[in-house]
Amino acid sequence: MNKVVLAFSGGLDTSVCVKYLQSLHNLDVITLTVDVGQNDDFKDINKVSADLGAVEHVYVDAKQEFLNDYVTPAIQANALYQQKYPLATAIARPLIAKKAVEVAREHNANAISHGCTGKGNDQVRFDIAIRSLNPNLNIIAPIRDMNLTRDKELEYANENNIKISAVAKKYSIDENLWGRAIEGGSLENLENEPPDDAFKFVKQNNTSAGYVSIGFERGVPISIDGTRMELGLLVKKLNDVAGAFGVGIIDHIEDRVVGIKSREVYEAPAALVLVEAHKDLEKLVLTHNELRFKFSVDDQWAWLAYSGLWLDPLLTDLNAFIAKTQERVTGEIKIKMHNGSYRVVGRKSTFSLYDNDAITYMSNSNFDQRLASGFVTLWGLQSSAANKMISKNKA
Ligand code: ARG
Repeated sequence: MNKVVLAFSGGLDTSVCVKYLQSLHNLDVITLTVDVGQNDDFKDINKVSADLGAVEHVYVDAKQEFLNDYVTPAIQANALYQQKYPLATAIARPLIAKKAVEVAREHNANAISHGCTGKGNDQVRFDIAIRSLNPNLNIIAPIRDMNLTRDKELEYANENNIKISAVAKKYSIDENLWGRAIEGGSLENLENEPPDDAFKFVKQNNTSAGYVSIGFERGVPISIDGTRMELGLLVKKLNDVAGAFGVGIIDHIEDRVVGIKSREVYEAPAALVLVEAHKDLEKLVLTHNELRFKFSVDDQWAWLAYSGLWLDPLLTDLNAFIAKTQERVTGEIKIKMHNGSYRVVGRKSTFSLYDNDAITYMSNSNFDQRLASGFVTLWGLQSSAANKMISKNKA
């Protein structure tokens, strides 16, 4: 029989996919679980796969690659889609696709399958990444192909003795070390506040305030409160530290690639705090024009990552620009957290462009105010001349 590699989480969609690939497409299914820090029980997923009759289960630990080649560039690009969403799911998809293409080659499979619906962004990210890496592979998306809905899937799972966890019945969750996306259930009603049980890291009943200091070296977070640690550990720790002060919930209206608006709920304490700290440090060390330009680069970066164009040459180009700017992004940022809010309250850097002698209002200032008068006159010419012309023509 021909073989297919299925990107497999062990959840509702992908469990249903195994059965459909076997019965409808007559394929031997190789399930692939890529570990991007989702904190699942991987032994259990292996068992679920075997119970479903997969011919083989492959586990790939891609945490370090995810941190180095996906999360780090996202931090450096201050990546927030529509100024809100840290793109956790979005940046993991091209990596999972890459691993699936590798496993397909190793196992002589000529197709890759995923459990994405036809309504979301994930299908876009998977399909485009797979085609960019190996155009000869077939792509099979059973949920999309059969226009399946969650209630139909649950029914099918029930009929076929597929075990589904209680949370999977309630929400559709995607998790990795950069964040968690929670969809469906009561959240589909725009007027409902997300209930506490939707969240894993964020505690919403803590009224005390706390501080955390993040150290950066060339745009990479390297320490928490002066203690050096590798990025994976730092993110994990910060999820707990910031989450304990209620920080990390995102609840916004998002424009999907397929043209619909959706209500998206996420929790990503570490991602939000790290992007805020990184952005603040850049403001201290980059020039005004570098910042203005980088702002549009960052926005473009987030859009490419969100919309499935991770392998577009433009992203590589933008990364080259961003990498150059990060040479000076070294320093320490102190954040205050309270009741879900977070705010930078202190910063220091050896590359700081903040000039105390110029800015001070005291008499030791080296800034000669008298020079400003001529500057302001010339700077304002563009505006004063235009207004003069407009009133002359009105008269
Ligand atoms: N809207 C988000 C995105 O496009 C989250 C997707 C979550 N995926 C999921 N299978 N629950 O990245």
